[in-house]
Amino acid sequence: MHIHIDPLEKKWIYVASAAIGIFVASIFLTALFGGIHPPGHMEVIDSASLHLDGEFTEDKLGVKTTPDGSVKVTLVAARYGFFPREIKVPAGTPITFRIASADVMHGMHAPMTNLSTMVVPGYVSTVTTTFPKPGEYPMLCNEFCGMGHDHMWSKMTVVSKESWNAANAQQAGR
Ligand code: CUA
Repeated sequence: MHIHIDPLEKKWIYVASAAIGIFVASIFLTALFGGIHPPGHMEVIDSASLHLDGEFTEDKLGVKTTPDGSVKVTLVAARYGFFPREIKVPAGTPITFRIASADVMHGMHAPMTNLSTMVVPGYVSTVTTTFPKPGEYPMLCNEFCGMGHDHMWSKMTVVSKESWNAANAQQAGR
């Protein structure tokens, strides 16, 4: 069977194929050289019982400083918010977020930063990032999760490294 393809159409098929090739190659190359990978490492968790025992119980949530100076944030995403509702972290410091959903799928996104991850029930989402600038950032949900989805957000305050260290020193001296 012979299909007639107009020469101009043929030309555009090549252009479109080349564009797709460039897109796929750029995704592949950034993943390879930029160390971009899906959040988390297939770490599983029982979403229905995470409040009962382990890392995601209420008293263990929030911001913690590790001995090497990096900061760890443990959050639970649940309809409708990220808990705790307010967190404070330092600028210019690697911060590792560990987030688990207690119910359905959520997405955590802080506009104007590169913090964005899906939070799939049954898995722990781990993301490490550094915020260059102090400021107040909302943490918004960007996966439709129910009637309250539009109102699902929590507040993140990024403070300067100096004021973070000063506050920590004060706490240690108390
Ligand atoms: Cu949670 Cu939308």
